[in-house]
Amino acid sequence: MEKLAVVSGGGTGIGAAIATTLATDGYAVLIVGRRPEPLAKVAASHPNITPVVADVADPARVTAVAEAVGEREVDVLVNNAGGFVMSTGDTLADLATQWRGAYDTNVLTAVLLTEALLPRLRRPGGRVILFSSIAAQRGGGGPYSAAKAALHGWVFDLAAQLGPDGVTANVISPGYIADTEFFGTRMTPEGHASRVGQTLVGRAGRPDDIAAAVSWLAGESGGYVTGQIINVNGGSVLGR
Ligand SMILES: NC(=O)c1ccc[n+]([C@@H]2O[C@H](COP(=O)([O-])OP(=O)(O)OC[C@H]3O[C@@H](n4cnc5c(N)ncnc54)[C@H](OP(=O)(O)O)[C@@H]3O)[C@@H](O)[C@H]2O)c1
Repeated sequence: MEKLAVVSGGGTGIGAAIATTLATDGYAVLIVGRRPEPLAKVAASHPNITPVVADVADPARVTAVAEAVGEREVDVLVNNAGGFVMSTGDTLADLATQWRGAYDTNVLTAVLLTEALLPRLRRPGGRVILFSSIAAQRGGGGPYSAAKAALHGWVFDLAAQLGPDGVTANVISPGYIADTEFFGTRMTPEGHASRVGQTLVGRAGRPDDIAAAVSWLAGESGGYVTGQIINVNGGSVLGR
């Protein structure tokens, strides 16, 4: 039986590492993003990885992922797509645009993709993983923090809804992870050093640190974990 994983945002950063790890674990992996180029690059790195170009915040386009899945069952759905939406100005209209953008990028991406694939989740045994951030637990990101925190409330309902079918739903909440496109040109050497200094282990997180947590949750040994917020942050925020 072929195991199938879907990873949104699989063309870069954390998502690319998750895709590579799950492909190495033996899954066929569909990676989803809006830009074809990064997806093609990751897909070329492993024969189990296939790109699907789709904006998963768009109800009309997320269906492309369900079409790529077809009649197969999805063992693991990793809703990793997300990001920080910058402010474009000082007016209330600009503020509304930024907050709606943050919600689209970090909440609707997960809600629409999960709903689109809900009928195809393997029952029992399926896994749904949402991606939050340390910013949801300690602030610092304004609309980004608020949008990520929304996933914490939603995962409780999702876990309750899917539990009777033998499907788990959890949130992974990363701390600072370097070597991604997340910070764009915003990261400075001082910002990097400050974030490393906030960890207890004295280093930045790596995309592979997060991929390892996904691999564990996806496997047999993750089957009794559901409705949880799982922190992978080097000790930057403790025990929440
Ligand atoms: N890096 C960190 O320190 C950190 C910390 C905490 C949480 N996180 C979270 O971890 C996740 C992965 O981020 P990352 O650090 O790996 O950053 P990244 O390299 O910027 O990855 C984000 C990915 O999401 C995709 N994406 C964004 N909106 C999308 C949409 N509407 N439809 C489809 N794909 C979409 C992007 O591809 P396209 O632009 O091509 O669509 C990109 O591949 C995000 O949810 C982020 O919020 C990151």
